[in-house]
Amino acid sequence: MDSQNIFILGIESSCDDTAASVIHNGNILSNVIANQKIHEAYGGVVPELASRAHQQNIVPVVHQALEKAGITKEQLHAVAFTRGPGLMGSLLVGTSFAKSLAYGLNIPLIDVNHMQAHILAHYINEEGFEKPPFPFLAMTISGGHTQIVKVNHYFDMEVIGETIDDAVGEAFDKSGKILGLGYPAGPEIDKRAKLGNPKAFRFTKPKVAGLNFSFSGLKTGILYFVQRETKANPNFVEENINDICASIQYTIIGILVDKLKQASKETGIKHIAIGGGVSANSGIRQALKDGEQKFGWTTYIPKFEYTTDNAAMIAIVGYLKYLEGDFTEQHVMASARLKI
Ligand code: KG4
Ligand code: ZN
Repeated sequence: MDSQNIFILGIESSCDDTAASVIHNGNILSNVIANQKIHEAYGGVVPELASRAHQQNIVPVVHQALEKAGITKEQLHAVAFTRGPGLMGSLLVGTSFAKSLAYGLNIPLIDVNHMQAHILAHYINEEGFEKPPFPFLAMTISGGHTQIVKVNHYFDMEVIGETIDDAVGEAFDKSGKILGLGYPAGPEIDKRAKLGNPKAFRFTKPKVAGLNFSFSGLKTGILYFVQRETKANPNFVEENINDICASIQYTIIGILVDKLKQASKETGIKHIAIGGGVSANSGIRQALKDGEQKFGWTTYIPKFEYTTDNAAMIAIVGYLKYLEGDFTEQHVMASARLKI
């Protein structure tokens, strides 16, 4: 097999982003994303609307990805798609599209686990970004996920910790909602946190056994705190918004870093990678840098466009599986709860 000249199309549609990307031997040629603005008005993703928007977006997004890559669909060697986990209605759109395209072109179809893809995004060739050596620990943090994964090899991964309720991005977004910030609130909280005092207010960290996480108690704690304080001073949130954001962010980062420290200690692994939308957070980035000094970690943060939901990460997994001849059949089904 000529492994030196392989073009693969990656398709991602697990949540509210319709994305397509073309990879050529591990180098990304195009990475197109259609965000669905429609959910902002609802303060969260509405599955039925997401599915409909995917149907509208998928053809133009794939078309654009091929055009930007400067290739025709006939030059593709395989089509890779997100099989799960995610919203079933959303996954079905990408899955059906990928199946038909691969069938029509008579090329292999490759199914990709979205969570593995967030981690393997680190293996995209990108100047200035190191690839983590095996084994390493990967923490995936986004609006849909919070996991710590021990990565022994590309497709040999073990989830050693995960959230038992909300994802960390939800903790940011739901806290922001309580404070009257727009959706998603993570970036806004991050921005305001830089202007505030992280120790102005104290929020209780959850006590969860092992390497698992919990964020729903924190959200309730913040809600009660805001209700109590606004009763005494109706302008409390307005007057203290930066300090509140800084304190919330400080608490959340503390929860994440505590578990990472524990995971590193238990496994003896000091190579630490992160992925997912929350890895854009300035607090977590700083905490990882500090970990290099304090705990001798080597840390890996992918390029931002490969860290939020995207199809480049699906395409790199497609490429890695293509090299192994790991293809799937036309009767493959989308799987909302697919595990690593
Ligand atoms: O990976 P992503 O784009 O989509 C999925 O949820 O899979 O992640 C989106 C999440 C949202 O919850 C958003 O608030 C959060 O990432 N986020 C941030 C920041 N940027 C995005 N959270 C904290 N600080 C940020 N700078
Ligand atoms: Zn994701």
